[in-house]
Amino acid sequence: MNIDEIISGLTLEEKASLTTGSAFWYTQPIEGKVPAIMMTDGPHGLRKQEGEADMLGINASVPATCFPSGATVCNSWDADLIFRIGQALGEECQNHDVQVLLGPGVNMKRSPLCGRNFEYFSEDPYLSSRMAAGHISGVQSQGVGACVKHFAVNNQETCRYSLDAVVDERTLREIYLASFEEAIRTAKPWMVMTAYNKVNGDYCSEHPHLLGDILRDEWGYDGVVVSDWGAANDPVRGVEAGFDLRMPGPVPCADEAIVQAVQNGKLPPEKLDACVRRILTLVQKGIEHRRGPEAARSSAELFAEHHALALKAAEESAVLLKNEKNILPLQKGQRLAVIGGFAKNTRYQGGGSSNVNATKAPNLLEVLAEAGAEYTFARGFRNKVDAVDETYVQEALDACQEAEVILLNLGLPFRVESEGFDRKDMKLPNNQIDLLNRLSALGKPLVVLLSLGAPVETPWADQAAAVLALYTGGQAVAEATVRLLYGEANPCGKLAETWPRQLEDNPSALNYPQKDTAVYEEGIYIGYRYYEMKKLPVQYPFGYGLSYTSFLYDGLKLERVEITDQETVSLSVNVTNTGAVAGREIVQLYVRPVAPSVSRPVKELKGFCKTRLLQPGESETVRFALDGRSFAYYNTTISDWFVESGRYDLLVGASSADIRLSAALFVKGTREIKPVYTAESRIGDLMADPKAAQLIGMIAGGQMSGMSSAQDAKDSGFPDEDAEDVAMDSGALGQDMPLGKLVNFSGGRLSFDKLNMLLGMLNQ
Ligand code: BGC
Repeated sequence: MNIDEIISGLTLEEKASLTTGSAFWYTQPIEGKVPAIMMTDGPHGLRKQEGEADMLGINASVPATCFPSGATVCNSWDADLIFRIGQALGEECQNHDVQVLLGPGVNMKRSPLCGRNFEYFSEDPYLSSRMAAGHISGVQSQGVGACVKHFAVNNQETCRYSLDAVVDERTLREIYLASFEEAIRTAKPWMVMTAYNKVNGDYCSEHPHLLGDILRDEWGYDGVVVSDWGAANDPVRGVEAGFDLRMPGPVPCADEAIVQAVQNGKLPPEKLDACVRRILTLVQKGIEHRRGPEAARSSAELFAEHHALALKAAEESAVLLKNEKNILPLQKGQRLAVIGGFAKNTRYQGGGSSNVNATKAPNLLEVLAEAGAEYTFARGFRNKVDAVDETYVQEALDACQEAEVILLNLGLPFRVESEGFDRKDMKLPNNQIDLLNRLSALGKPLVVLLSLGAPVETPWADQAAAVLALYTGGQAVAEATVRLLYGEANPCGKLAETWPRQLEDNPSALNYPQKDTAVYEEGIYIGYRYYEMKKLPVQYPFGYGLSYTSFLYDGLKLERVEITDQETVSLSVNVTNTGAVAGREIVQLYVRPVAPSVSRPVKELKGFCKTRLLQPGESETVRFALDGRSFAYYNTTISDWFVESGRYDLLVGASSADIRLSAALFVKGTREIKPVYTAESRIGDLMADPKAAQLIGMIAGGQMSGMSSAQDAKDSGFPDEDAEDVAMDSGALGQDMPLGKLVNFSGGRLSFDKLNMLLGMLNQ
């Protein structure tokens, strides 16, 4: 394809037609000139529908490997693992002639209630963006495009088609966009999908600031911006803003609107050409990398290999939340009671557009039987309702009679958690909690297995001897569970999100979800950033997870103790397996600004590293590199990232709540922010600037010093020993006074003219 030639040979109508899909999953072909390519869901498995297309996944799709969902695999904190999953996804796409896989989803977990949290990675943008980059690079290594979604601020399912998310610029940059930024800049996905919602009043598919200023201009993104299915609105505004492809299609009136806008001079033709060029480049990449049926690998071979990878991923992503008296691993031969319908109908994925037709998904009962375990089984609760069914409970109690250990598989059914709606609370269904209480009264060790896409409240945790969070672990999750339960694999996942004690502790709880406008009042304080700032105890902190072994951290080496924001610094730590079995450890690096002049989180994740499998006694040195961005916050005065000079503590830990080693680093910010003073600038800020203080002293005369002088206090009759204190108080009072107000208090010494002169000099 010679893109220049094609563009010059296209009519205006043909160009416009390319901006809309031809069908549910295809771009628009133009006979003899432009072929069509196919894109389909994603993210954690291929969902290519064979029959009629629909975005809810009602119609069957081809068999494909269902890997652990985004929320699950992020608990592995393993960018290589997710890269390999991406490769496998890409291979399956090639086998089915799919050119773009719609994923990963990288929206932040603002609230644990978001129905789609099972698909998203984390509450932390640093972790999320790095995992996303691994996913994208893996898919694209196979010549298949990835499509990062949903850009941006799509954090609730309620009214997702029309909600206006109102977010301040700093929060947008530091939290919601940061999750996309690194992934887009480094892994360069072929596509970016816009979210359904509005952000600060504009729909994402026609958002000049998000698409134009940030994505295109600042981040230099030159790939295709596609709408979420049905998310596009005004076609002309879209093209103007930097949007390219409306899906699904066809939508003839949208094409016509673009033609008319070009004809009547409302849309510059270059804008449309730029958009067409991006679409053609995408099509070209898709066609060039297409392997074709001749190169297709045998499904049997591919699926076997990918199932093994799905098993590895499920194992690495499960998080052991509790393990009292080392009840786990189980002893071979222990008599088990397996309770809970999920053990039979495995909840291994979430509901909605990501639903995969798994190649196989053995359930826990089958896998236990194959492993030779002796067990009894009862469903325990009904999944369709919340109400307790006594028959089910009795069956469960009976099944436990001979058992030495009870495996209780609880979780969130599809009716509670799915794309398209949000959860109403953070609890497990009532019948599950009731069952847990009744079983715990038997006094036998209770091992709770959790199959869910997001945190639940666990006031019952004390009654369980062990809790293993499997999340939505993909088609091999049951096999992974059995390996973990028997210690054939050692749990090494850590939570990529906080589990708060109760929903009300979450910073968005007071206004989540909203119907028309959602004001993100908590700002940058989401997840652990909030809980730490509020000193709120949580059930399980961000980055937490247990292991069957233990690790010692020592030998922290910081290459230098002082850097500028233009330099990088490296840091290394030794991690030693001090327990009796092999295991992997996730080491986390947080940065804490010691005395910031603006409000900042107590600490933020700026690095992580997962060791290889360490044998007992074995050590590994893990290394981190920090650069200017690791210390920066987004400064809205200069509309840029800014590093404030000062001390930063580097905290190395096993979780956000378990810091093992630390070191201090002094960072010098090289950028100066020249303040712009107005009549509204506060006296305190002015007096903190030596040049401004001097000028004010000269022009406003004794008035400024008069506000805080001890002599004034003495003159007013205060005894000598109190004069200083009183003067300081009156000085503090004046700190917030806007400069212009001095006109009113100067007894004529500061006039409007003088004020303007002063401002002129200050801003020179
Ligand atoms: C979802 C997207 C998905 C698309 C196509 C939408 O409803 O939000 O994530 O890729 O449908 O199925």
